[in-house]
Amino acid sequence: MEKIMNHPMIKHKISILRNEKTSTKEFRELVSEIAMLLCYEALSDAKTKKVKVKTPIAETEGLQVDENNYAFVPILRAGMGMVDGVLTLMPNAKIGHIGLYRNEETLEPVKYYCKLPSDIKNREVILLDPMLATGGSGSAAITMLKKDGVKKIKFLCIIAAPDGIKKIKEDHPDVDIYCAQLDDHLNDVGYIVPGLGDAGDRIYGTK
Ligand code: PRP
Ligand code: URA
Repeated sequence: MEKIMNHPMIKHKISILRNEKTSTKEFRELVSEIAMLLCYEALSDAKTKKVKVKTPIAETEGLQVDENNYAFVPILRAGMGMVDGVLTLMPNAKIGHIGLYRNEETLEPVKYYCKLPSDIKNREVILLDPMLATGGSGSAAITMLKKDGVKKIKFLCIIAAPDGIKKIKEDHPDVDIYCAQLDDHLNDVGYIVPGLGDAGDRIYGTK
């Protein structure tokens, strides 16, 4: 399943994010805020348990989400830009890291790092990457998580191309995709059009 967000505030933030004149500072803040909003939506099915709460006035019953059921896994580098935002929502989730970069000629993902929480197979994983272009990196990261025994994965991306959504759905039909914006197509060097350029470079100011 893919869920493309339709909220005016998300569309508003995407428009600023896309603008080539947006500063590194503002770009970073927006990636974080949009990630939080995507995560809010992705966690709408979170299991809750009843807890007793004593307010200054009375005792009542509340609901609590078990944060130990979750891990956030950003795909380096650009996915790191989404971590602060999702942690504002669920500060006690564990965090793993998967390092992948795209070979600029073949567009194939190249793995260079993987460090996941030791109990990852018992957690639902929320995979983070702002850009879903060909889908090669996202699909490879999901395969790595499944090899480690992860059974439930949700993929949060800010901008996706139709090819990327298609690839994830074909390779991993069990993974739900939450996407802030579905764009038109990929150009001949694998960039999303209209997109926002290179997310990693814009987050870290490396170009
Ligand atoms: C970008 C992006 C994704 C990937 C998407 O990373 O953050 O990981 O490209 O492209 P795909 O869907 O075609 O695989 P990049 O390889 O530029 O690395 P970076 O985050 O280190 O800049
Ligand atoms: N990676 C990016 O950062 N941007 C794109 O448009 C495609 C892949």
